[in-house]
Amino acid sequence: MKKGKLMLCLAVMAAITLSATLLTFAAQQPPETITIKPSIWKKLTMPPVTFSHKKHVTEDKIACNQCHMVYKDGKNVWKEGDPVEKCDKCHNEPTTQQEYKLTPEQKKLNLKLAFHNLCLSCHRKVKAKNPTANAPIVCNGCHKPVAAK
Ligand code: HEC
Ligand code: HEC
Ligand code: HEC
Ligand code: HEC
Repeated sequence: MKKGKLMLCLAVMAAITLSATLLTFAAQQPPETITIKPSIWKKLTMPPVTFSHKKHVTEDKIACNQCHMVYKDGKNVWKEGDPVEKCDKCHNEPTTQQEYKLTPEQKKLNLKLAFHNLCLSCHRKVKAKNPTANAPIVCNGCHKPVAAK
């Protein structure tokens, strides 16, 4: 192979690798803000919660695997680049008025509890350190009433 051709070949290969990397990266980019409406809930009893990746990831530098997970042998092995599943793919135990009757396993896999345990446990820690932090712990701080139409 002539030197020119080899260089061209290498350049093409580099371009392919780069675009593949960029594509994988783009696929992993979280949406800036999302309104969380899990499909296992036919209707919500509270106003839906809007969550900001921009705030949590970009501003507060919280690692993806604080919230995204895949468990193997009791450890969260999810790492950046892995596909992100909706919480209700795994946490699919229905909401109940009688949470005290749930087994520890059901509690872990209860969808409402999963959200509250994740969001609220961190916000409580944040508030304990800094009482003026804007990390809501009251219902309507997250379940913002929607303006009547
Ligand atoms: C503080 C918690 C938190 C952090 C940190 C976080 N996410 Fe999320 N992310 C969520 C929640 C909650 C959802 C909505 C899940 C649902 O609807 O079941 C979500 C949804 C997503 C989705 C969309 C999934 C879909 O099917 O709609 C992607 C992609 C995603 N996150 C990627 C990331 C990446 C990449 C990072 C790190 C750079 C990250 N997230 C960090 C909480 C978080
Ligand atoms: C691929 C499956 C899967 C996905 C997707 C998933 N989880 Fe989990 N999650 C689990 C499993 C399994 C456990 C229990 C781990 C253990 O046994 O300690 C768990 C544990 C938890 C816990 C700790 C529960 C406790 O009481 O100790 C919280 C909180 C949680 N998940 C919230 C979420 C949220 C919120 C989402 C979506 C952003 C999510 N999970 C997505 C499988 C998943
Ligand atoms: C690991 C810690 C952590 C987790 C988990 C977490 N947050 Fe936060 N959250 C924060 C911090 C830190 C702030 C910002 C406090 C400040 O800037 O004063 C915040 C701020 C917020 C705010 C107010 C700012 C805004 O975006 O309007 C909302 C709403 C919010 N979080 C919702 C959620 C929801 C919903 C979840 C669960 C899906 C969640 N958070 C999970 C740490 C966390
Ligand atoms: C830190 C944020 C946060 C706070 C504070 C919070 N929640 Fe939630 N809650 C969520 C998220 C996230 C979901 C799941 C996504 C959704 O419902 O839009 C949820 C889901 C629910 C659900 C199941 C879905 C439905 O609408 O029926 C109920 C019920 C609920 N919350 C009640 C409450 C009550 C009552 C309070 C106050 C005692 C409260 N929440 C405080 C974040 C929060």
